[in-house]
Amino acid sequence: MFWKKKQKKRQTMADRGERVDERLKHIAFIMDGNGRWARRRGMPREFGHSHGAATFKKIGRYCEKIGLQYMTVYAFSTENWKRPQKEVDTIMKIFDDYIEECFLEMEEDNVHFRFIGNLAIFPDDLQEKMAKIDRETAHKPFILNIAVNYGGREEITNACNELIREGKQVITEADISSHLYTLDCPPPDLIVRTGGEFRSSNFLLWQSAYSEYYFTDILWPDFSPLDVDDAIAAFYGRKRRYGGV
Ligand code: FPP
Repeated sequence: MFWKKKQKKRQTMADRGERVDERLKHIAFIMDGNGRWARRRGMPREFGHSHGAATFKKIGRYCEKIGLQYMTVYAFSTENWKRPQKEVDTIMKIFDDYIEECFLEMEEDNVHFRFIGNLAIFPDDLQEKMAKIDRETAHKPFILNIAVNYGGREEITNACNELIREGKQVITEADISSHLYTLDCPPPDLIVRTGGEFRSSNFLLWQSAYSEYYFTDILWPDFSPLDVDDAIAAFYGRKRRYGGV
């Protein structure tokens, strides 16, 4: 006689009531694979970005729930403007809708929304909305950095130019760190890249000097809280030596 063995659903850290410890405060995500995810379903790339945005919200809530203090996501790079106009417009629309949603939900959320990148490129009203939501959520404990029109090289160059404007003759590492868009956030402990590529793509170049990387083939729209747990388990299995022994 055959019968199906009842499969036990794997529990997430949150299901088990577990939280991260002091070794892990900040996770950053390179959310790659939206386009391929859509194409595999015979859909336009924009469809993948809509699902990617839903995944981003789910993963954000999960990271906050398991006790992370900082999360940074790469939503749009300084190079992404090269994409077809229709795709750029869709991502910008998703982004704009998301900001409106944040305003509606910010009372009950624990999130301090921050936008990092060269924001001057955006229309004035969008810049004002980003500044307003940042200001109005500044007292919340979970810091979510959303990188838009962000490039690591641009960020470092911008920091150096600010220091020149301030009249600095000699620049220290601390000077550069304190003029990056991430300001007072500690560097990411762990950077997760989905979508099967093994590169940093100009993301957090300065801040990632001693970050641990975790790469997975999973396409971003499919990325789940259990996959966050797997990345965290891999992180806890590593020894961080910061150049020592
Ligand atoms: C990379 O996948 C993804 C992007 C360049 C855009 C990411 C945008 C979102 C997840 C939605 C907007 C985010 C917010 C903050 C609301 P890809 O298009 O390069 O995928 P591919 O490698 O399969 O082509």
